[in-house]
Amino acid sequence: MKLSDIDLNDLDTFEKGPPHDQWKLLRNEAPVFRHAGAPGEEDYWCITKYHDLKSISKDPEGYSSEEKSALTRDPNPESLVGLRQIMLNMDPPRHRQYRAIVNKAFTPRMIDGLIVAVDQMVDRIIDNVCEKGECDFVEDLAAPLPMGVICEMMGVPEEDRKAIYELGNKMVGFDDPEYNPDGPSLMDGDLSTASVEMFMYAGKLKERYKNSSEQNLATALLKAEVDGHKLSEIEFNSFFMLLAIAGNETTRTVTTNGMWDLIRNPGERDKLIKDPSLIPTAVEEILRFNPAVISFRRTSMKDQVLRGTEIKANDKVILWYHAANRDEEVFDNVDTFDVTRDPNPHLSFGIGEHFCLGANLARMELQKIFAGLMKRLPDIELAAEPRRLRSNFINGVKEMRVSFTPTAKSSA
Ligand code: HEM
Repeated sequence: MKLSDIDLNDLDTFEKGPPHDQWKLLRNEAPVFRHAGAPGEEDYWCITKYHDLKSISKDPEGYSSEEKSALTRDPNPESLVGLRQIMLNMDPPRHRQYRAIVNKAFTPRMIDGLIVAVDQMVDRIIDNVCEKGECDFVEDLAAPLPMGVICEMMGVPEEDRKAIYELGNKMVGFDDPEYNPDGPSLMDGDLSTASVEMFMYAGKLKERYKNSSEQNLATALLKAEVDGHKLSEIEFNSFFMLLAIAGNETTRTVTTNGMWDLIRNPGERDKLIKDPSLIPTAVEEILRFNPAVISFRRTSMKDQVLRGTEIKANDKVILWYHAANRDEEVFDNVDTFDVTRDPNPHLSFGIGEHFCLGANLARMELQKIFAGLMKRLPDIELAAEPRRLRSNFINGVKEMRVSFTPTAKSSA
């Protein structure tokens, strides 16, 4: 492969699997690489080295999330107004004011308080399929936990959760014709039907909790003030949408890819089954090896030089998370999946100003679901080739049919 073969716009490639060969070549030969834009979009700089991704993420003044959003598609001016109401697409100091509203709900102490409920959820999720001997891993085992937890935290009633799940799939799968046959979406610049429906649902939730004394994320958002003002309708709705999507798509994706990696590496799975104390390091390796987020965007705010390459003000910069997590200058045996790897300073949750709000929660959920799976369904195997999401944004899997030896329910 040569630099002239690099094409990170080609979704056929991503549908087959993350293009590690291309990222490796970029790391070694062109760590700050000028890439042609997708049709109708700006050209961009590809960032593939660990320390570059880190320093750019930690420099919001030099590399903005707000200027053109953190999303990789070029926004049009109208959609940019809406995108900037979402915390992910804000720069400091404004970003910190919004982040402070929700930070408290995601501290290690708050997450510890969810452990008992999460243990029970994991038992129920596995109980629902364990006697059948086969299921769709994505829908039946990976999706219910993160979806259940974030909906519980936000006060979304049980009966509405499936609809929110499906709307989230459509919004994240904007490039996949299975989810978005009509194309346009929030990410493209137009408000898609799914995002309008998500906004309408947020309005319903606001109505439900406006006089409520319950303590959840919806009531916290209703009480919150920024500069002496309550959140506007669009700010409330944007917060809801961010939490609903970020809180479930990513953890589901990591659970599925992690299980797939364990199936492909039976020796590593055996280590986990024999020694469950390895679950925390295994989860970090799962996160490093196959991150949920493939790419986020920044916009250069000034003319600046990175590794001797001149980046102009207003240039588009794409951070490739998989590439940074396999940087040979930071990790040994980068392509080896090693459940005992420690230390493991991967960047799968980002770093700096926008470091993942849900990292503590996601880590706890991943540890609990993998502990349950290794104990109760230790011989899960693929029953068909998994179907991957067509996307160079989220490393998703749409369906992963698996089989295993049927076992009794935990309560039986
Ligand atoms: C394994 C699961 C997860 C992964 C891999 C992940 C990944 C990430 C990454 C890479 C970022 C950085 C964005 C940037 O730098 O522009 C981020 C931000 C964020 N994540 Fe996660 N995430 C996960 C789970 C969650 C969960 C469970 C929540 C729960 C609500 C969540 C909420 C958020 C929010 C709100 C932000 C934006 C933070 C900000 O702008 O300050 N994430 N996540």
